[in-house]
Amino acid sequence: MTSPDSGATTLAPAADTQPLATPIPAAPPHGRGSTLVAESVSAWFGTHKVLERVDLVMAANSVTALIGPSGCGKSTFLRILNRMHELVPSAQLAGRVLLDGEDIYDSARRPIETRRRVGMVFQKPNPFPAMSIYDNVVAGLKLTGVRGVDKDTIVQRSLTRAGLWNEVRNRLRQPGGALSGGQQQRLCIARSLAVDPDVLLMDEPCSALDPTSTRRIEETIGELRDDITIVIVTHNMQQAQRVSDHCAFFLAAENTPGHIVESGPTTEIFGTPRDPRTADYVAGRFG
Ligand SMILES: Nc1ncnc2c1ncn2[C@@H]1O[C@H](COP(=O)(O)OP(=O)(O)OP(=O)(O)O)[C@@H](O)[C@H]1O
Ligand SMILES: [Mg+2]
Repeated sequence: MTSPDSGATTLAPAADTQPLATPIPAAPPHGRGSTLVAESVSAWFGTHKVLERVDLVMAANSVTALIGPSGCGKSTFLRILNRMHELVPSAQLAGRVLLDGEDIYDSARRPIETRRRVGMVFQKPNPFPAMSIYDNVVAGLKLTGVRGVDKDTIVQRSLTRAGLWNEVRNRLRQPGGALSGGQQQRLCIARSLAVDPDVLLMDEPCSALDPTSTRRIEETIGELRDDITIVIVTHNMQQAQRVSDHCAFFLAAENTPGHIVESGPTTEIFGTPRDPRTADYVAGRFG
């Protein structure tokens, strides 16, 4: 297979559906999020290079926000972090992604295990609309091959952590599609949490939601950060400042693939940015 650049890897689509050997612990341990490290990550779709040598440490038990204008590769980068990028047939990548020091692209690692440890929530809430709230929460268990667990406990625990339990505890058998948009997004968060991930990736999780639902999700993020590592893409600069500890500013130009201009503590990215392009972006002067 040809690579558009030296060092690029053409990824095979994942066909891994074997059950997991690792059982889910009875209760989530606290303060055990994982550190994700991207080392010189570049990405292509066909011959189109969309990310160039991205280096970023996403520290355990913290929230990292990815910001930058449309098309600069934020979602692509996020999907690389849980091996969803390779599901696109033309997708290629170079570099390494380390989860607690181990390369998630190591040939001995199964994509399904990485996707269980690194969950993802998307822009548009995507519950299974006809499926009950209860079955939505446990749907991921089956998909990732987890067996032999107490589903009732997992449903209650996941919905509680997602901040939805009190609103749905008496209607768990109603369809997920009957919930409001904000509730559906929290249901999707609960579905991700059910498989007990170490990291949660969130791609503009509030962009389809009203301000009240947005605030509710931000509260949930604030509660989850104690035992999960969160990476969130947002176009909302106020949100980035409210929820994140660290921030990475991505930028792409016509002949320059997406790359990180600057990253660091959120207070510094917004308060004392080093690069004038960062200053202009966070001040809303472009993008
Ligand atoms: N499946 C795909 N096939 C081909 N090109 C793609 C695909 N997905 C994304 N791209 C291209 O990769 C580049 C980065 O896209 P990406 O969606 O990662 O940007 P983004 O920063 O998330 O943008 P936005 O803020 O609009 O969501 C863009 O040029 C886009 O057209
Ligand atoms: Mg995107």
